[in-house]
Amino acid sequence: MGSEEAVLFETDNAEGRVLYRLFAVSIFVGICLVWAYRVNNVPGSEEVAGRWIWFGMLGAELWFGFYWFITQALQWNRVYRRTFKDRLSLGYENSLPNIDIFVCTADPTVEPPLMVINTVLSVMAYEYPTEKLSVYLSDDAGSDLTFYALIEASDFAKLWIPYCKNYKVEPRSPKVYFRSASAPTSPSHAQDFSSIKKMYEDMERRIESAVNLGRIPEEISAKHRGFSQWDSYFAKQDHGSIVQILIDGRDIDAKDVEGCPMPTLVYLAREKRPNYFHNFKAGVMNALIRVSSKISNGPIILNVDCDMFSNNSYALRDAVCFFMDEKKGHEIAFVQFPQNFENVTKNDMYSASLRLITEVEFHGLDGYGGPLYIGTGCFHRRETLCGKKFTEYKDEPKRVNKLLRDESKHDLEERLKTLASVTYEENTQWGNEMGLKYGSPVEDVITGLAIQCRGWKSIYFNPTRKAFLGIVPTTLVDTLVQHKRWSEGDFQIFLSKYCPLWFGHGKISLGLQLGYCCYCFWPVNSLPVIYYSMIPSLCLLKGISLFPQISSPWFLSFAYVIFASCAQSFVEFIFSGGTVLGWWNDQRIWLYKRISSYLFAFIDTILKLLGLFKLEFIISSKVSDEDVSKRYEKEIMEFGATSPMFTVLSTLALLNLFCFVGLVKKLVLDTSSLVVFETLVLQILMCGVLVLINLPLYQGLFLRSDKGKMPGPVAAKSVTFAFLICILFTLLY
Ligand SMILES: *[C@@H]1O[C@H](CO)[C@@H](O)[C@H](O)[C@H]1NC(C)=O
Ligand SMILES: *[C@@H]1O[C@H](CO)[C@@H](O)[C@H](O)[C@H]1NC(C)=O
Repeated sequence: MGSEEAVLFETDNAEGRVLYRLFAVSIFVGICLVWAYRVNNVPGSEEVAGRWIWFGMLGAELWFGFYWFITQALQWNRVYRRTFKDRLSLGYENSLPNIDIFVCTADPTVEPPLMVINTVLSVMAYEYPTEKLSVYLSDDAGSDLTFYALIEASDFAKLWIPYCKNYKVEPRSPKVYFRSASAPTSPSHAQDFSSIKKMYEDMERRIESAVNLGRIPEEISAKHRGFSQWDSYFAKQDHGSIVQILIDGRDIDAKDVEGCPMPTLVYLAREKRPNYFHNFKAGVMNALIRVSSKISNGPIILNVDCDMFSNNSYALRDAVCFFMDEKKGHEIAFVQFPQNFENVTKNDMYSASLRLITEVEFHGLDGYGGPLYIGTGCFHRRETLCGKKFTEYKDEPKRVNKLLRDESKHDLEERLKTLASVTYEENTQWGNEMGLKYGSPVEDVITGLAIQCRGWKSIYFNPTRKAFLGIVPTTLVDTLVQHKRWSEGDFQIFLSKYCPLWFGHGKISLGLQLGYCCYCFWPVNSLPVIYYSMIPSLCLLKGISLFPQISSPWFLSFAYVIFASCAQSFVEFIFSGGTVLGWWNDQRIWLYKRISSYLFAFIDTILKLLGLFKLEFIISSKVSDEDVSKRYEKEIMEFGATSPMFTVLSTLALLNLFCFVGLVKKLVLDTSSLVVFETLVLQILMCGVLVLINLPLYQGLFLRSDKGKMPGPVAAKSVTFAFLICILFTLLY
């Protein structure tokens, strides 16, 4: 084979890098000028209050400038990856590695069994030699409903997989396929289509009726011996481990309807006991790693959340291109795909698609050694997950795993149970040197960092046609809570022994260290942003100017920095496929995250440091009731919950409204005050923009009557707070 064919992926630099760097330098100059202005124009010592306000502005601007500087790590060196799947098929089709796919679910009410098995079916139907695929479903709630759904899926898969392969069906989640596919035109296909659609709908009905019933009907549970595990002592948080090999790929009779081999399919519910700590998803993943090592032991592991179905049946081959590339493949520990979503509305009201992160920032991280591991849509080399250092790694000829399997399936299942027991990890390195790390709500990020610090690289692969699609939170409170959890976890990393700066020092590039810090510092942003969106507006009430007047040359530096960074985010947003309104919504959520999610994350972390709080884990809801989803589709913001986060948001929004109204009143009553414009222009503009961006919130507070409006108590509280703050400020200043 020529060396050309051995190259399975290529890397391109972002276009216009030089231009971007010049632009960044110009912003940096602007930032320095802003600092210079602040330092040179401190009010005289007779104005005590004015001085403190000024220092506050300086503090905020120092932080913004510093944060801007470290975020350049996400911009400076962006790279894009391309794979050559045809070369892979030509040269390596017979040596493709086995792949183990882990699907994790945690709660049958938040994550309905039907959704879970659709994900499972989509990953079982990959265009990949089926005998090399094994799918493991970890059901952390140990729900017999989920188990039942999986049994149904294992039967349905015998029809579904050959159907997908014969007709090159996409996507391979049956639910999504039947929802979007139009009836085929060719007669033979049309017949198969309608018969398999009927099979699917029958299965769906059976599962839904069991779910509605809340238990498994006798006649079903009698049919499968697996149900005997759910005896009368079984409780969600108190049960032994369950391992059920539903399809054993090596079994002679594990064949689909056309006689082709089937992928292995395993159900796992690890042991749960009330007096043991279970380490959330990291604990699950480690149990999966151990159990799978005794069944299929695939050298590549893909893990996805149970709501993330495969939208591209060739994605496994993309990932394998990276690992099997002859020149660079051996240094790659994991390949991270972006988290994309099917339920995003056109203008993405909650900015849930994380567009700038997936389309810009992760490409930047990739340029410095690799993206973060974000816990889903990620392919790992099994050995690195188990703690291997890059220097210890030899690309040994892959032993096609011949695990001795002369024991019966039942004996094997019994033996595997101990691997998923609560006591197995006692006095071992699991959760520390081996597997995913414990002790953080973002175990995935720490694990990824530790892998990179052991000398490995990671790859970010973001194809145009998205490989995995999940479900977004469809309410504001879910969005904010999700961001609180992420930002809190990342901040804790910074304060822990895994701080990217110390832990990564000398092991990963400086760019990557700073890149990690951008995420770790999310919560810190809350304080300066709150200051900046409150104080200048309040100062309007007293006509205090905090920015240079419009005729001063200093004005230009402020205007340039603000305008240029807005323009940059606008351009990036539009070029990565967003809409104008989507960008505006993104700005709103940018603000809301900072003044609520990040603020609470910051406070919680500090309280925890002082030993006052305990780690708490909230599953964000993945289903929603009818009304809520109607409003979601119409892009009407959902408040309808009493959360302290909403009180903070409304208070700030109202405060700006009051300041703005106060200013207008002053101008109308006293036209001579028009001259103040000259000195207050930037402040007035900022306050005006804050009012504009909060329009949906005012609507939710005062103008709407549906269930999604802001609850009365929140409105009452925030009006009072905002009013008090304004009064106190005017009186005390
Ligand atoms: C996601 O969106 C689709 C249509 O785009 C809809 O049918 C489905 O119910 C939505 N799912 C959730 C959980 O909101
Ligand atoms: C998902 O796959 C379909 C093809 O089945 C494709 O048309 C669509 O663009 C993909 N979705 C995304 C978000 O890439």
